Amino acid sequence: MRLVDTHVHVNFPEYDRDLAEVRQRWQSAGVCRLVHSCVNPADFPKMQAIAQHFPEVSLAVGLHPLSTAEFWQDQLAEQIKTLAQSDSRIVAIGETGLDFYKAENQPEQITAFQHQLAIAQDLGLPVIIHCRESAHATYEVLKDFPNIRGVMHCWAGNPQETEWFLSLGMYISFSGIITFKNAKQIHESSKIVPSDRLLIETDCPFLAPHPQRGKRNEPALVKYVAHKLAELRQTDILEITEQTTNNAFTLFNL
Ligand code: NI
Repeated sequence: MRLVDTHVHVNFPEYDRDLAEVRQRWQSAGVCRLVHSCVNPADFPKMQAIAQHFPEVSLAVGLHPLSTAEFWQDQLAEQIKTLAQSDSRIVAIGETGLDFYKAENQPEQITAFQHQLAIAQDLGLPVIIHCRESAHATYEVLKDFPNIRGVMHCWAGNPQETEWFLSLGMYISFSGIITFKNAKQIHESSKIVPSDRLLIETDCPFLAPHPQRGKRNEPALVKYVAHKLAELRQTDILEITEQTTNNAFTLFNL
């Protein structure tokens, strides 16, 4: 079984003590590639150091929407673009997007998102999109970038919202949330995504899937997401793992 975890944060301090063991477990679970998402360009040197040790880890660079209040300034766009061109292990811009859960800072989030989409378009890179309580606004921004490719990460939208982003050509990535019993809307959304647009991720250290819910998450646990998708889509686990792995290689040009 070959799996790709398309969204990890293994630079977070949760892994400072035992990342080598965490890696052994993702290797045993068949995770052959990982995409390391970036919440702040200031973290990039640590992410590069990890990729140096673990060559299966590919990199993204970007600024998370919830970091925009503290860190966004227009010159950061130049910095992200320069970093993205400086390292051949970079496979995406992100994570960027909109997070209106607490409904603050919306204009600044939109500006930072637009800048990062423009960079992704200029450099021909896919974009990793965080979208929380903001599907309509995210759609409105994205549709002005018709050539953009990317993924709706840790997707939690309803089927109608899922259709909006599929119509823009986006990939849809499901996380451990899909294994939660009460995630009915996400279960329904997972059934309408065409198999050539489907991706899986952990978003670790957050959102560990059932039966590890509440504990620290890690890339090896992405297998539970694959199993749940196979159950929901009434297909074979090997079909899910092969398809999602192929899709990740295609989108991120791995
Ligand atoms: Ni993330």
